[in-house]
Formats: sequence, structure tokens, C-alpha cells
Amino acid sequence: MSSDSGSLDALLSEERRFPPPAAFRAHAVLHDPEVYERAAADREAYWADWASQLHWFEPWREVLRWNPPQAQWFLEGKLNVSYNCLDRHVLDGHGSRVALLWEGEPGDTRSYTYRQLLDEVCRFANALKGLGVAKGDRVTIYLPMIPEVAVAMLACTRIGAIHSVVFGGFSPESLSDRNNDAAAKVLIAADGGWRRGTVVPLKAHADDALAKSPTIEHVVVVARGGDLSKQVGASLKPGRDLWYHDLVAAASPDCPAEPMDAEDTLFVLYTSGTTGKPKGVVHTTGGYLTQVYATTRAVFDIHDDDVYWCTADVGWITGHSYVVYGPLSNRAHVLMYEGGPDWPDRGRLWQMCERYGVTIFYTAPTAIRSFMRWGEEWPGKADLSRLRLLGSVGEPINPEAWIWYHEVIGGTRCPIVDTWWQTETGAIMITPLPGITVTKPGTATLPFPGIDAAIKNEAGEETSAGYLAITSPWPSMLRGIWGDDARYRQTYWSKWKDTYFPGDGAKRDEDGYYWILGRVDDVLNVAGHRIGTMEVESALVDHPAVAEAAVVGKKHDIKGEVLAAFVTLKEKHPASDALLKELREHVGKKIGAIAKPDMIVFTADLPKTRSGKIMRRLLRDIAEGRAVGDTTTLADPAVVRRLQALYAEEE
Ligand code: PRX
Repeated sequence: MSSDSGSLDALLSEERRFPPPAAFRAHAVLHDPEVYERAAADREAYWADWASQLHWFEPWREVLRWNPPQAQWFLEGKLNVSYNCLDRHVLDGHGSRVALLWEGEPGDTRSYTYRQLLDEVCRFANALKGLGVAKGDRVTIYLPMIPEVAVAMLACTRIGAIHSVVFGGFSPESLSDRNNDAAAKVLIAADGGWRRGTVVPLKAHADDALAKSPTIEHVVVVARGGDLSKQVGASLKPGRDLWYHDLVAAASPDCPAEPMDAEDTLFVLYTSGTTGKPKGVVHTTGGYLTQVYATTRAVFDIHDDDVYWCTADVGWITGHSYVVYGPLSNRAHVLMYEGGPDWPDRGRLWQMCERYGVTIFYTAPTAIRSFMRWGEEWPGKADLSRLRLLGSVGEPINPEAWIWYHEVIGGTRCPIVDTWWQTETGAIMITPLPGITVTKPGTATLPFPGIDAAIKNEAGEETSAGYLAITSPWPSMLRGIWGDDARYRQTYWSKWKDTYFPGDGAKRDEDGYYWILGRVDDVLNVAGHRIGTMEVESALVDHPAVAEAAVVGKKHDIKGEVLAAFVTLKEKHPASDALLKELREHVGKKIGAIAKPDMIVFTADLPKTRSGKIMRRLLRDIAEGRAVGDTTTLADPAVVRRLQALYAEEE
């Protein structure tokens, strides 16, 4: 972390302060700082208060039972997530309110009221039942950003099936790995999805995956591919593959919501870790919904007249919590978009903000940095005056991007909520409250009320700079890793006693604000997406020409970080540009395009300790062009000089 400290010191000298505007504060869901004390005085009562705003078929008997590292929240309570996102609002008289407003990349639109969405979800839930899906079964969802992705998720929750959403950009091999790890019974895919003017052939990818997914009994195919649909229709496998629209048309719209135990599994979402194998993060029902509901309400300050837009793909946790479950459980008016932000031009998102009167906009710093590079003229062409709150998530936001977001997009009047959290935390953990917190560019500020965080050193003592730690269980915490309890304990709970280790470095300033420094493990954050270096290394080594590979992160102006790979080839394989290209493609095929290394350096040897461990720290120094740290433990110190020379050539 030494190299980051310099830039952090620069950050900490950031003098600018942004108190909530008075007009915002006056109408904010939370405007009294007393909420922090109230939550701290009785955390369980505080969370129970949020939970009681949801609908429970049966009340819980105990708020929290904590047998570290196993937490149970709202014990014996019974509820259903789709009921809370849909039925509840319809029964409260809001059936004709628009729940989902969707725009496809070609410009086509669809909207669903809460009643219509409930109808579609019930039909599809019945269709899933008809395919033999029962409570506890796993269903993989591999769809683009179309309304059916929300319908499919909600339909699973309605009948108690466990969904595993796989981002559409992942390769067939990643998809089959996830199908197999979860032993999924049904796959829901689209024939295609629009991205920058062309249709991505998703069903073809799914078919490749299906050849290696023996547990999948049925594939439900959503027609979205335009001309591709005909071709896909002709190739559906009889008995296995079914059109979504046929199933929904034939199904009954009457499907009572299954009362689920608060601790029943709601979904599994795979994310990268420090080994070659992604882990299935397990979330349960009552605690998860409580915290996504609470944070959506309090952090995004949801009111009935808001038009809310989170640009994340549903394939990531942000899409789960803040496109689908958080906003819908809050009866929000949600905007969803299918395609690229620069299609047909770089003003697309801002034109949509104007067209739909977006009031709350939540995106990632990597996107903000792209918008900055594209120039002010694009947002300048749109009327963004309805915007009143901006959010950021996924990586530290640099103050320059923060200020640009504040001035150019927010017209200096919108508070910015920089929200720190993870797939594992399920919901926002460290964040400003927009009606209360004085923000500073670059810091996620303070833990959400009811969340206990700290900064600790290796020994577990509190310090002002070190590792971020979460010191008490929280409702939406992961309950485990699918099928791998040992990995759950080892990854998150072995550093300190009964304290969660998120894997991030952090520092605290004189106001107690948290400044997140980024990952301290072998997980990278590329354009806001988590990628494990080991996963990419395994993909590279899988190629017949590769003997050994080491992958490290390298800073990037737009993406935050990119991957740099150092590769040793087997003797019979000479280095060439063609091989370099082939290796990038190979990684794309094994994992997905997001994992392709930005640069690959062929080298005769890698810097290793005498015991044979690759010294990634040195490789990071080389990739970043820094003075190389201590090399005394190297088996062959000359390797570093050779590598530096090679790397300089590549750059
Ligand atoms: O390093 C932190 C970074 O993203 C990681 C979590 O990635 P993922 O599970 O994919 O979830 C991303 C969306 C919630 C964290 O360990 N991160 C996320 N938000 C922030 C952040 N780093 C700094 N500031 C943030 N606001």
C-alpha cells in the first residue's frame, strides 16, 4: 500500500466541503443527524424498525443471532421478496403507478405498472413451476438489460427458487462453470441483446455453455434479437428449449407468493476472489431485503415523484440491489436501459435523463471519467435540471471526477453520494446521507447508521490507516460461499476474531471519514468490475504455449485499473504478435472480454523468491514504472532489470 499513500495524502489535503443544500435537506427522508446515535444506541431495534416497514407473513421472534461467522437475522420471520416489491404496492392502491420504464438500445420502449409487472411475474413464476422448478432449486439468468431480467429474478423469488444471474458479457465457459457450481436446473437466456448497434448472439453462447452444463434441464429463451430470433427459433432444441413468450402467454396470472423463511437463500451471485475459481456469494431473504430497502430509501432519498436510474447491469450486485430489489421495494419509478452509453452518440444517457425527467442518477467512477473525456458538450445539449441527487459506486472516485460530476452533471445543486460496499455486503455500508452529511470529494464518508466499521492493522488494533474492517454483523451480509464453508471462513473471517475483512485498504481523517484505498488482495477493479488476478493467470496458463503467467494491476486514467500480464512461454513456442493476440482472445474466451489483459509482456523468467513464490509486488512496481522495491529476497535479482527493459519496450 506504500505507493498509494502518496496519492492519498494528496487526497486528504482536499479542502473542499459540500454541505447538503438547504432545499434538499428540508425534504430529505433523513435530515436529523440524531439517527446515527439512535442506531448506535440499539442497533437491533434500529434494524427491526426498518424491517417492520416491509410486509411479513409471520413476524420474527428474534432480531439477530450471531454465532461468528454465522449470522441469522429476523429469525422465524416469514416474507416474500416479490410480494414486497409488487403485491404490497398494488394492494396499497398503487397498481397503476409505473414501476419500470425501459428503453432498448435501438430506441424502442416499454413500461410496466406495478400491476402489470406483478401479472407478468406471476405468469412466469407459474411457467417456472411448470418446468419443475421448486423452492430451493437454482435458476441461472443470462439476459441483457431488458425488463425480463427483473421479471425472471422476481419470479424466482416468488416461488423460492434461488437465482444466479450471470453477466451477459461472461463467456460460455464462465457460464457453464456457474451452472455447474450451483447445479442449476433451468437457464433463462435471450436469443440476443443489443450492444453498440449490433446484436450479441447470447443464445449461441448459452448453447456452447449448455454442452458442458449437465444439470440444466430446460432453457427459457427471451426473444430480443430482432432478425436473429428466426434463426434461433429454428434451432431450439425440442423438449429442452422454450420461448419465454409462449410460456408466459399460456400461464395463469395467479400465483401466490411463497412465504419464505427470513434465512432462506434468496440468490447466489458469483464474484472474483483470490483463487482461480469465482465464489458464489450467498444472500438470504429477510436481512438482505431490509438493508437494500433501508439504504435505497435513506441514501437515494426516494420520494414518490422521483425518477430513479441506476446504470449498473443486473449481472452485478449493484444491479440486484439498486436496479431491482431496493427501488421496487420502495415503490420507485425505475428507469432501465439496454445498451451502450455512446450509442448512437455520446449524449445518449443525458438525452434519456431529459426525456424521462430523471431525478436520481447512480453510476460508476469509470463511467464518469469516460463522460469527462467525451466532453461537456454532450451533457450540455440536454436539460438535466430535474436531477437532484447523484451517486457513485464501484471504486474510489478521484476528486477531479467528483467535481466534474458535481458541476457538469449536477449543476452544483445535487448532493453526491459516494457509496462503498461489495457483492458480499449486499447493500451500501459506507456512504453520505444526502440530507445530513457534509461531503468531501473522494471519500465515502461515514458508515450507514447501524453499521459498525473500523480501520485495523494486521494485529487487529485500531489505527487511522490500514485495513477496513466491519466489526458487527449487518442484515444484508453474505451468509456464506455456495458449497464452500471453509473458503467463507478463510477469506473473510480469519484475519481477526469475529470481524469481517472486506479486502480493502482505508484511511480515516480528522472528521472520522473513511477514504477507501482499493483492494489489498489479488483482486483488481477494472472499470468497476472485480477480476481476480489468479483467474486470469489460470486462463493464460490454460493456453498450450504458456508455461507460467503473473497478472498484476496497472493504473489507468479511465478504467481505474487495467491488467498487465507477464508471461513465460514453453520452449517450443516463440513470442510473436500473433501469439499475443491469441492469448488475449483466449482469456476472453475463458472468462469474458472484461478480463482481457491490457498488455502482455513475454519474458524468459519471472521474479521469484528463493522458495519459488512469484513476487507480484515487484511486477506491480514494474507495470507502474515505479522504482522497484526491495529485491534482496529474489532468487535472481537480474530478472527485474531484464523485465524492466522488456516492459519499457512494450509500452
Ligand atoms: O474495492 C472496493 C470497491 O469495489 C469492491 C467491491 O466490488 P464488487 O463486489 O464488485 O461490488 C461493486 C459494487 C458494490 C470493494 O471491495 N468499491 C466499491 N465501492 C467503492 C469502492 N471503492 C471505493 N469507493 C467506493 N465507493
